[in-house]
Amino acid sequence: MEISVIGAGYVGLITAAGLAEKGHNVLVIDIQKEKVDMINAGKSPLYEEGLEEILRKNSGKRLKATTDGEKSILDTDVTFICVQTPADFEGAVDLRPIKRVAENVGKTLKKKKTYHVVVVKSTVPPSTTEKTVTPILEENSGKKAGRDFGVVMSPEFLREGIAIKDFLNPDRVIIGATEEKAYKTVEEIYRGFNCPIYRTDPRTAEMIKYASNIFLATKISFINDIGNICKKLDIDTYKVAEGLSMDKRISPHFLNAGLGWGGSCFPKDIRGLVHKAKELGYEPKLVDGVIKINEEQPKIMVRLGKKRLGTLEGKKAAVLGLAFKPNTDDIRDSQALPVIEYLLKEDACVVVYDPKAMENAKKTINGRITFAKTAQEALKDADIAFITTAWEEFRELDYSGMKKPIIVDGRNLLRHRKDIIYEGLCW
Ligand code: UGA
Repeated sequence: MEISVIGAGYVGLITAAGLAEKGHNVLVIDIQKEKVDMINAGKSPLYEEGLEEILRKNSGKRLKATTDGEKSILDTDVTFICVQTPADFEGAVDLRPIKRVAENVGKTLKKKKTYHVVVVKSTVPPSTTEKTVTPILEENSGKKAGRDFGVVMSPEFLREGIAIKDFLNPDRVIIGATEEKAYKTVEEIYRGFNCPIYRTDPRTAEMIKYASNIFLATKISFINDIGNICKKLDIDTYKVAEGLSMDKRISPHFLNAGLGWGGSCFPKDIRGLVHKAKELGYEPKLVDGVIKINEEQPKIMVRLGKKRLGTLEGKKAAVLGLAFKPNTDDIRDSQALPVIEYLLKEDACVVVYDPKAMENAKKTINGRITFAKTAQEALKDADIAFITTAWEEFRELDYSGMKKPIIVDGRNLLRHRKDIIYEGLCW
């Protein structure tokens, strides 16, 4: 099928590359010329395992990048909208980027003679596709949705770091539409995928995306809540999680207790839905609790360090890990950031290290912190170390350069070590 994808950001580029890999002809549209040139040269503007290989294989053949949105939409049968939906200062989802795109797509649809399907892939609050995107498309095209063109909401479930694998082997594809022709068109795109396809309406599809992310974050906050109780009772939370997940109704995934969740998706989506619910007059108590537990974990971590040393004032504290999870350089809403903030409030001398995220951290973190070139440099003469990201390499580090090897482990990496003074965050 002939497909256009608007936005060569994270979701757009993975979607475009993945669909090309599956045999479709894909035009990916972006306003940034440098990005477009890179993609056409088979190079990836962002790092994601396996992405560059797919770009090299498909660029110039089944995959082309362009800045010409209008021609791309006219030349294709389906357009995926993959623009960002950032949060505004209130935590609400900023719909301005998707509204602008819908307006342009609508204007192009006006000139189109044949049926076209517009697929919203960006994460948007429930009812946005029907109440915001569709009316803008209709108004600007002068055409009727469901008759002259189709509108579908199909959320993405890609994890950073393994997004290509997730795209090519999804657990399910959700298709939220209102008419048969639109369902059929998008189902045809996913024909080569070995997974169930779930038909629903657009607002249910939108809610499935939010509910999925919130459920996963809830599992993490749940095990952290249990873990905080376990710690007081001298019980190993990881053993509890193991026993717990032997019940087939409870899957073992996302039950790793520790410093909690961060990243570009969970925090934004959770706050976005809470905001929407409150706007509608509903207080989502469980979800509020999920956020509160997550906000508490970095405080608990710093408190444990303070208890160990008596005071953190003037003490050298090494923070190992800045990325929100291992194997990425992304520090957006990383739980390491509040740990650093609280250590600074305690007047500790903070030295940080991360194998991949140092450059991003230097651009983002202001304050009295030192960026070490290596983990060993961060640990040298440190009074205490905090493990904030689950990088494998931290497991086998030499901690003997510290004044005393006191480690507060937020990611369950070091409990096997007999040569350190160990403190698990909630185990
Ligand atoms: C998440 C979802 O897992 C994807 O399904 C979804 O598509 C994506 O958001 C999105 O909305 O785009 P991602 O943000 O890449 O993916 O991160 P995850 O791998 O889910 O990890 C999220 C956070 O939870 C990380 O900070 C991680 O350290 C933490 N985590 C994860 C735990 O603390 N414990 C666990 O057991 C698992």
